[in-house]
Amino acid sequence: MNILISAERIQERVRTMAAEISADYRDRPLTILGVLTGSLMFLADLVRHLDLPIRIGLVQASSYRGAATTPGELRIHPELLPDVRNRHVLLLDDILDTGRTLSRLAEHLRSLEVASLRIAVLCRKIGRQEVPLEPDYQGFEIPNEFVVGYGLDYNDEYRHLPFVAVLPQIESTQD
Ligand code: IMP
Ligand code: MG
Repeated sequence: MNILISAERIQERVRTMAAEISADYRDRPLTILGVLTGSLMFLADLVRHLDLPIRIGLVQASSYRGAATTPGELRIHPELLPDVRNRHVLLLDDILDTGRTLSRLAEHLRSLEVASLRIAVLCRKIGRQEVPLEPDYQGFEIPNEFVVGYGLDYNDEYRHLPFVAVLPQIESTQD
């Protein structure tokens, strides 16, 4: 597997991002909202470096059914959401690809009257975005390849890898 971002680089970047976030929010209580399932590693590592009063919640939404990169209908499962009204929310995801998932989630969260909303992504794929969305925190820009590891999956496999790697077999399915 072709490693794109090593475990060491990820850990270093997550630490610096946590420092930025801690400085930006100062002592304001923050609700970290991770998008299942891809954000789990990122969330777990990030929060351990945050010097802030924190709540953690999870939200389930999926625009990709099964394997590849054909977007389906985005479904949000509101039953998992903690109470976010009047709270400062930081929405976390593994990757910004077309931007559809995060923009729909952001729209949903704003409708719940959050006090503020910011978005953090570990990776942002270059040249794939279809809807306008500017993450407030972004770990790495990556080329237009299908990647796995550190939360990112292919058919729910490979999420546990400590690095981000290109999955060779399906490189050609993305244009
Ligand atoms: P978006 O709505 O197109 O931005 O898609 C975001 C979601 O698609 C992410 O949360 C991932 O679950 C998935 N995704 C997009 N690109 C990749 C990839 O290269 N590897 C694994 N999952 C991906
Ligand atoms: Mg995902």
